[in-house]
Amino acid sequence: MKNPTNGDGTKAISNMNREKILIHRFIYSKYILLPEINSTNEYCKSKYVVSDRIVRALKQTSGRGRMGRSFLSEEGGFYISYCYFPENLMVQDLLPITGLCAVAVSKALERVAGIKAEIKWTNDLIFMGKKICGILTEPVLDHNGRVERLIIGFGINTNQPKNCFDGELANIASSIFALTGTRVDEDDLLICLSLLLQGIYDAVCTKNRIVINDHVKYYRSRCITIGKEISILRPSLVENGRDPKEVYNETPDIFPKATAIGIDENFGLIVRHGDGSEEILTFGEVSVR
Ligand code: BTN
Repeated sequence: MKNPTNGDGTKAISNMNREKILIHRFIYSKYILLPEINSTNEYCKSKYVVSDRIVRALKQTSGRGRMGRSFLSEEGGFYISYCYFPENLMVQDLLPITGLCAVAVSKALERVAGIKAEIKWTNDLIFMGKKICGILTEPVLDHNGRVERLIIGFGINTNQPKNCFDGELANIASSIFALTGTRVDEDDLLICLSLLLQGIYDAVCTKNRIVINDHVKYYRSRCITIGKEISILRPSLVENGRDPKEVYNETPDIFPKATAIGIDENFGLIVRHGDGSEEILTFGEVSVR
């Protein structure tokens, strides 16, 4: 079909293009791109952010991971935090957020990079056996448990060269570029992830079970933890401040063993213990044995 034109011969903007332009405008109006920062999640907690923002850095000097770990954030990766100021959200409403975010990034990577990533409970993305994305969700609460600020940080290993991951890390993590030989278009990723995340945020704010259930279904279909023999790395079993994973490597037997049998409606991991009893894990970490 020929491109539609205005009366004066200039190209008309079709409805689809108009929608695209509006979406781009909406996203870029909230977008802050920094060449380097300690951590985009930390920046979102600062006084510089007072309304909804999308903060991306090309490099982080103190990238933060879950359980107090650090997150390697060299140039070439995609480090981004979404900061929201919800009006009416309580801490208990956030239960599904971690799993929802894993679904959002998995769908975005499938659309933009053409890869089908797997999800390791709770929200690590795995591709060809390597971690390609980690997510750190940090709510700021008032004394009544109301969410004042919600910060969701994604560290996506998009285009780092292979040698970026060395030593022990090379066994665990890699980048999509190193694994596939194809660069990820980061502008497309920004738009796609931001849109999917907005949908998820709206669903959480409105407690839209239809959308959430749909994402749970997707999560189950991609979750590689289900069916595995696991150890439950309960933070309460380690000395304050120690990384349960580190303790697990030294003394694996102090952690209870179980079988992961499913994912519940809020992305909790359903496990069966040796005595047949069942438990739903809602946070923390497990190690596949
Ligand atoms: C994990 O795998 O433990 C979570 C890693 C989360 C890393 C991202 S990168 C952007 C944002 N800023 C941070 O300091 N951390 C998150």
